[in-house]
Amino acid sequence: MGTEFNQLFDEWAHTYDSFVAGEDDEYKEVFSNYEAILNDVVAKSTGTVLEFGVGTGNLTNKLLEAGHRVYGIEPSKEMRAIAKQKLPKHVSVSEGDFLDFHVPEQVDTIVSTYAFHHLVDEEKNTAVEKYGQMLRKGGKIVFADTIFINQEAFDKTVEEAIAKGYHNLAKDLQSEYYTRIPIMEAIFTNNGFTVNFTRYNHFVWVMEAVKN
Ligand SMILES: C[S@@+](CC[C@H](N)C(=O)[O-])C[C@H]1O[C@@H](n2cnc3c(N)ncnc32)[C@H](O)[C@@H]1O
Repeated sequence: MGTEFNQLFDEWAHTYDSFVAGEDDEYKEVFSNYEAILNDVVAKSTGTVLEFGVGTGNLTNKLLEAGHRVYGIEPSKEMRAIAKQKLPKHVSVSEGDFLDFHVPEQVDTIVSTYAFHHLVDEEKNTAVEKYGQMLRKGGKIVFADTIFINQEAFDKTVEEAIAKGYHNLAKDLQSEYYTRIPIMEAIFTNNGFTVNFTRYNHFVWVMEAVKN
């Protein structure tokens, strides 16, 4: 859903960049290699880019620096306000979400970092189906997000978070929709993509899906 997490991100917007810098112990591992993760998404992107869940604009800035035209979509008002402060004036960051958005021209790559887990698996499938209809052959979806190899890996991660006293992290893992690699692989494959997964830390993988 588009608005489910808006309040959380409106509240988090002003301190979010300190978390990605590794300043919060609970989220340190989630954001370890953050710069390398974003750089890999940029390296795998081609042409005109549509970005979902822009947040404070960190990936957007890197895409612009690499010479891409970028259309950003972000549902949280506070996140949009911060992104607009950090980004050049001409860059479009529109209200919308993974499923409900407007983009004014054909795009070549659809990107997102740390955001796709806000959709339940059925919505993830609806989104990828929609992107498959938008992209030309060779077009790409490049997403970085927390994803688990299997149920056991997920359960173990939650147990470890609780044992360390990382209650915010544990609650986050249990209340958002972090999926499993075989599920994500099936979603891409069933919608006409060939996908590769690259791991960057205990939580985050980069998924590069190319339209067949
Ligand atoms: C953890 S932040 C990631 C921000 C940025 N992409 C980054 O890598 O630093 C997640 C972002 O996804 C946005 N978001 C939440 N639900 C969404 C949805 N359904 N569609 C698109 N973006 C969503 C949030 O508002 C927030 O800005």
